[in-house]
Amino acid sequence: MCPVCRHQLHLSEQTWQCEQKHSFDVAKQGYVNLHVVQHKHSKTPGDTVESVTARRAFLAEGHYAPLQQAVTEIITKHKINSVLDIGCGEGYYTSAMQPNVKQCIGVDIAKNAVQRAAKTNREVTWVVGTGAVLPVMDSSIDLCSSLFSPLPIDEMCRVLQDDGYCLVVTPAKNHLYAMREALFEQVTLHEPDKILAQFEPYFDLVKQQQLEYTINLTQDALKNLIAMTPYAYKAKLDRRCTLEQVEQFEVTASFQIYLFQRRKLHLEICPSKD
Ligand SMILES: C[S@@+](CC[C@H](N)C(=O)[O-])C[C@H]1O[C@@H](n2cnc3c(N)ncnc32)[C@H](O)[C@@H]1O
Ligand SMILES: [Zn+2]
Repeated sequence: MCPVCRHQLHLSEQTWQCEQKHSFDVAKQGYVNLHVVQHKHSKTPGDTVESVTARRAFLAEGHYAPLQQAVTEIITKHKINSVLDIGCGEGYYTSAMQPNVKQCIGVDIAKNAVQRAAKTNREVTWVVGTGAVLPVMDSSIDLCSSLFSPLPIDEMCRVLQDDGYCLVVTPAKNHLYAMREALFEQVTLHEPDKILAQFEPYFDLVKQQQLEYTINLTQDALKNLIAMTPYAYKAKLDRRCTLEQVEQFEVTASFQIYLFQRRKLHLEICPSKD
């Protein structure tokens, strides 16, 4: 969808264009930037280069492969044709979903993340854009996913087909507990259930699953894990430095996976009184 006039964009050669002739070139790395200045609040929005680099290195070692597999299994099981991955980052999960669907779009506000994502899989339509104005037309998507990313529920409702799905992954209560215990004096447990209340007015909960396992981290992997999370700047520097001296670290990964389905609207026709 054209971010300026909201008409449909068509791809011709290497340019996306709408009927009002707003046009957006596909960069040579293979992504399109639809994050127009009208919707921008910062010059370099989203995750920093450091956190994206750390996430790429950490995920490449396979520590979250069980989650990647769980996500692709859900996509396959529900026979999804079109996916929009919101806050796709550098595309670790998006790229894995793509072979199982006809059309796969990844959107992220961080240009540096999308540039990296575009190198991994040319079959995905990679977009720099914002969750506040999703870059697709109304009722055009079967499944929106958001893994550890923003949940723009109004926009998800707009772009989803009538009985479309929303796949949400968020940290479960004890996710990375040992790491957080080392970094902070007090650990606040994650509260994944809070998401349920946000979705309740518009969606039915179809499935929920907790995925939990232990990971053994080398010192480098631990450093990357810290750097890819907000703990990198939230933790006190001395605690972070002490933890980063450790040569081996065992930690529990615990993910909460929710699959929601758009609730059908039942219009009640009230019998007239006379
Ligand atoms: C924790 S990362 C998760 C990335 C990816 N889903 C993953 O799990 O590897 C959150 C991502 O959301 C993106 N993000 C933050 N605010 C956003 C917004 N308003 N619209 C789109 N993406 C956003 C960030 O740039 C970042 O890449
Ligand atoms: Zn336009």
